[in-house]
Amino acid sequence: MDLEKIMEKTILCSKALEEYILDTSAYPNEHEQLKELRDATVQKYKHLSILNTKADEAQFISMLLKLMNAKNTIEIGTFTGYSLLTNTLTLPVDGKILAIDFDREAYEVGLPLIKKAGVEHKVDFIHGTALPILHDLISKRKEGSFDFAYVDADKENYINYHELLLKLVKKLNSFLASDTRVESTLLSIGDGLTLCRRK
Ligand SMILES: C[S@@+](CC[C@H](N)C(=O)[O-])C[C@H]1O[C@@H](n2cnc3c(N)ncnc32)[C@H](O)[C@@H]1O
Repeated sequence: MDLEKIMEKTILCSKALEEYILDTSAYPNEHEQLKELRDATVQKYKHLSILNTKADEAQFISMLLKLMNAKNTIEIGTFTGYSLLTNTLTLPVDGKILAIDFDREAYEVGLPLIKKAGVEHKVDFIHGTALPILHDLISKRKEGSFDFAYVDADKENYINYHELLLKLVKKLNSFLASDTRVESTLLSIGDGLTLCRRK
């Protein structure tokens, strides 16, 4: 992947402000295994480690999950698992995250840290392409099974994910301001975070 394209992921154009937020707020509050996971990702993927959800964005999502008392969530686009580990640490002991990615090798980079943090039992990882997996969940009558969805994968499919996740998610999900069925807001955090609530 082209590095310039990857750098465009950051919605905040000020590198200094981003570093300030990370250094003064996000990193001091970061769980030890999340730091280890970031380091393992840099070691394996070098500049591509920028694909990990930023610590400030992950902490914001984590706070939302707590405010909602979320228990069952779904994540599309796991990579090495920064957002996945953040959210598994956030959910209650009997919480579950269904995590989908077609890159098992990347997931396995973070898996030892998920195990070390003692939260592996909350993760159901499905290796594969997201769209057919979502269709499959709907055909297995999983509508309304999830409290929250985090989508961090192929942008071209976001509208498709939106349609399917509207069926699968009870309360909050991501995307599309023009949909009258939902209320949404775009936050300039990380590479941009659209929050969307079903009306
Ligand atoms: C930006 S990264 C996810 C980062 C991750 N949330 C984190 O915090 O580390 C995007 C991931 O989406 C996965 N992906 C892209 N398109 C996909 C698809 N159609 N089905 C499943 N996974 C997909 C890629 O393999 C990649 O690991």
